[in-house]
Amino acid sequence: MTADIALLGIDHVRFFVSNARQTAYFYRNAFGFDIIAYAGLETGSTLEAGYILKQGGITFQLVSPLRASHPQSQRLLTHGDGVQDIAFAVQNVPETYSAILSNGGIGVQPPMVQEDEFGTLETAVIQTYGDTTHTLIDRSRYNGVFAPGYLTIDPERYSPRTFHSAGFTGVDHIVANVELGEMNKWVRFYNEVFGFQQLVSFDDKDISTEYTSLMSKVVQNGNGRIKFPINEPSEGRKRSQIEEYLEFYHGAGVQHIALSTDNILETVHALRHNDVSFLRVPPTYYDDLLQRVGNIEEDINEIASLGILVDRDDEGYLLQIFTQPVEDRPTLFFEVIQRHGSKSFGKGNFKALFEAIEREQQKRGTL
Ligand code: FE2
Repeated sequence: MTADIALLGIDHVRFFVSNARQTAYFYRNAFGFDIIAYAGLETGSTLEAGYILKQGGITFQLVSPLRASHPQSQRLLTHGDGVQDIAFAVQNVPETYSAILSNGGIGVQPPMVQEDEFGTLETAVIQTYGDTTHTLIDRSRYNGVFAPGYLTIDPERYSPRTFHSAGFTGVDHIVANVELGEMNKWVRFYNEVFGFQQLVSFDDKDISTEYTSLMSKVVQNGNGRIKFPINEPSEGRKRSQIEEYLEFYHGAGVQHIALSTDNILETVHALRHNDVSFLRVPPTYYDDLLQRVGNIEEDINEIASLGILVDRDDEGYLLQIFTQPVEDRPTLFFEVIQRHGSKSFGKGNFKALFEAIEREQQKRGTL
């Protein structure tokens, strides 16, 4: 019998990167995040530097080791920059942690209380796919900017904004790539250990191109705030984008983070202005778009000129677009998504999308 797990939502996403200072600059100037807190030598953090970025309901923590003796420093050679942890807000860390362990979860860090003048912050850490973890975090007794060790950043450190604000409101979903044959294992893991329900599944007939295919299942927590699609490659004539990811990330990990917006046209305009590069679908994608998806509120010419994808299901429609990988390795990228009623994941766009990715793989010589 699965013990009940109550997760409130995603508290923050922790990225382990080689140069947090410069990564913070990128997410500020390209994606429009505010840098609100810092930890490092100046604040008494001798092992790692950290930056806390916020936008809407999204919190990113960017961390870099300051010394080779940092216990995670090897990650950078193995994985490159990437997502280390997706933290869940919970009401009671010890209870949630022991329920997860009794459901078969593996603990990385037992419940621990950190204190400073702003209160107490309680956390614990659970292992998931690859070298990725889930922190459980209870902020109810903590009033500081992020966590003990972090101080509000001096606004004078950054010049006034010259870039465009992106208008992101929250994390819609976070996608995992796992090894061939491992998808069902991780769906079972989220089901049995965290009590997630399976939402939808796509098989290789749904998601295939002439050369490659993949399979995907989506799991979601009880209140619907946490959605994790899980992809695995399937046999194809050429190497799929999932295999390319697994090779360069050196194992399972986070493939993309979908950030929601209430105005995708403004968001994509701003990101383009800020030099964010997106995947392009061929102009023919728009030829019969209105026949496929019916009427939409947005101007179809503007949708087409920005390269935004549209998909409809029984409940409404959604607009989405995908960035190029944000790092040198073809691993992590972002999705921008605006939902008009639709709760799905753009199945109708998969083919156009994966063909677009394959064109990029071709350029990289990794197809
Ligand atoms: Fe997505």
